[in-house]
Amino acid sequence: MASVEDIGIDLGSSNVLIAERGKGVVFNEPAVLAVNHDTRNIISIGLEAYQMIGREPSGITVVRPLQKGTIQDFDMLSIMLNYFVMRVVGKHLFNRPRALMSVSATSNEIEKRQLILGMLEAGARRTQIIERPLAAALGTGVQINEVTGRMVVDIGGATTDIAVISSGEIMARSILDTAGDAFTDAIIRYIRLKHNLLIGWRTAEDLKSAIGTVDSQEQNTLSLPAAGRNLVSGLPRQADITGEELAEAAEEPLHALIEGLHSVIERIPAELANDVFDDGILLTGGGAQMRALKEVIQREMQIPVFVADHPQECIALGCALVLERPGEYARVLGEGRRSR
Ligand SMILES: Nc1ncnc2c1ncn2[C@@H]1O[C@H](COP(=O)(O)OP(=O)(O)O)[C@@H](O)[C@H]1O
Ligand SMILES: [Mg+2]
Repeated sequence: MASVEDIGIDLGSSNVLIAERGKGVVFNEPAVLAVNHDTRNIISIGLEAYQMIGREPSGITVVRPLQKGTIQDFDMLSIMLNYFVMRVVGKHLFNRPRALMSVSATSNEIEKRQLILGMLEAGARRTQIIERPLAAALGTGVQINEVTGRMVVDIGGATTDIAVISSGEIMARSILDTAGDAFTDAIIRYIRLKHNLLIGWRTAEDLKSAIGTVDSQEQNTLSLPAAGRNLVSGLPRQADITGEELAEAAEEPLHALIEGLHSVIERIPAELANDVFDDGILLTGGGAQMRALKEVIQREMQIPVFVADHPQECIALGCALVLERPGEYARVLGEGRRSR
């Protein structure tokens, strides 16, 4: 049996990704569990649970243990993480990998220690935790040890993590709760108000990914039928939704995002701000894939903006990279724990 290499884990609010050293991302599933809310029995975890959203049988709820930058349900988080990690490493008990993990929520020391202990049970030999912006930057290939300031913005589902990094350290940071989910919520709201149509979360996510854009100035002829429930008749109905409408729906969260970027730049020292103006802003995370986001931020802020290749994978890849060259990145590592 092939052995498992050391693993990097992105414990996100929307998705959990696991990268293996030298192999890239080997696991990517939604961070959700389907739970019977009376007995707390778990029905399914990950993709299988995600597919139940909007069509849950009675008594079953699909929960997201990480939301709005905090751990909502620690037990569920822990069960989900262990299950995912076991699926990647479980069969290799004689070759336990080291793990480096990045968590998209501020967790306290007790919670961190519990997560690390859970990782031991799941088959990891040793687990350390790394700050999200450092992992994101490393995963894009940025040399974080350089003195030049780099602004990295990771747009996930629940949170946008904005950081300015210099000499391997986070010099300024702000975590907004405007991220991908806020755009999805805005689409649901907009269609309810404009079309009297209540669409489900997954329908809104699909619209956003397929024809969504955040640029209301863009020429846009795309449209897609969306199915929902008419709020007047109560019956199922479809409406054609256009890209232009989605851009209009995106205005509010877009504004909040740009405000958030501004406020970080305003409070960093002038030299770092100059670096950011020269080198630009680097976008990572699944939300960085929203169409025209790069162009709109660039236009509004007059700063160059870049979207990382495979933005959703950056954090997991960054974690795996640190494990490949631990000596080089010793200072970015948080505390770890050994089983022996
Ligand atoms: N092609 C796409 N276009 C627009 N948004 C996308 C696309 N793919 C993923 N997203 C959004 O990215 C967000 C999830 O990003 P991700 O980095 O996985 O989140 P997290 O790190 O919080 O788990 C969701 O809001 C999702 O809708
Ligand atoms: Mg992410």
